[in-house]
Amino acid sequence: MRAPKILTFAGSIRTGSYSASLAALAAKELSLLECEPVLISLADYPMPIYDGDLEAEQGPPEAAKKLRDQMINADGVFISTPEYNAAVPPLLKNAIDWASRVKGEGDAFRKPVFCIGSTSPGGLGGYRASMMLRQVLALGLGALVLAEQVMVAGAAQAFAENGDLKDERAQERLRATLRTLIEQAALRAGLRA
Ligand SMILES: Cc1cc2nc3c(=O)[nH]c(=O)nc-3n(C[C@H](O)[C@H](O)[C@H](O)COP(=O)(O)O)c2cc1C
Repeated sequence: MRAPKILTFAGSIRTGSYSASLAALAAKELSLLECEPVLISLADYPMPIYDGDLEAEQGPPEAAKKLRDQMINADGVFISTPEYNAAVPPLLKNAIDWASRVKGEGDAFRKPVFCIGSTSPGGLGGYRASMMLRQVLALGLGALVLAEQVMVAGAAQAFAENGDLKDERAQERLRATLRTLIEQAALRAGLRA
């Protein structure tokens, strides 16, 4: 039986982004577990700001279709978000909004199991953005979002040179959350009884 495919991406394309560091670390940890990890960057999925007129004239951009394909082909999705003014950054919200407008077989937001990560140089670890992302995915799009989530506070100091979290217990919590994601993704995809 195949291993569950887990897609991972961050809501920032900034050089040195902490949320991208968390996405990369999650992909590294996933590669050590029983799954097929796929790490992408939204830098490779450039989209204009959503505009209903643009959609009516041209339909969703190719990047939105590609992102939607990545999601529908995944059994699990780990999204690592930064926090902008207590919310999800526009890059991530825009990508989700466009992907939600792509028509195709199946529902890319209802098929995989989602898991949320958040980072911030501040003390709350992007908690408020994580709650907004949960609302968008679960309430807005009907996604199954794991209760377990990962928050990295003090992100500027949190990562070691090799990309691991300096705090071993935090890294173990990340690992445990990813194990749950794999397990739930496999169950939902019918890969495990
Ligand atoms: C417009 C803007 C608003 C921000 N608002 C918050 C905020 O509400 N809470 C927070 O913890 N950090 C906030 N920050 C700081 C970001 O957490 C910080 O820039 C972080 O490095 C961005 O994520 P990244 O490293 O993944 O690019 C804000 C940054 C910007 C540019």
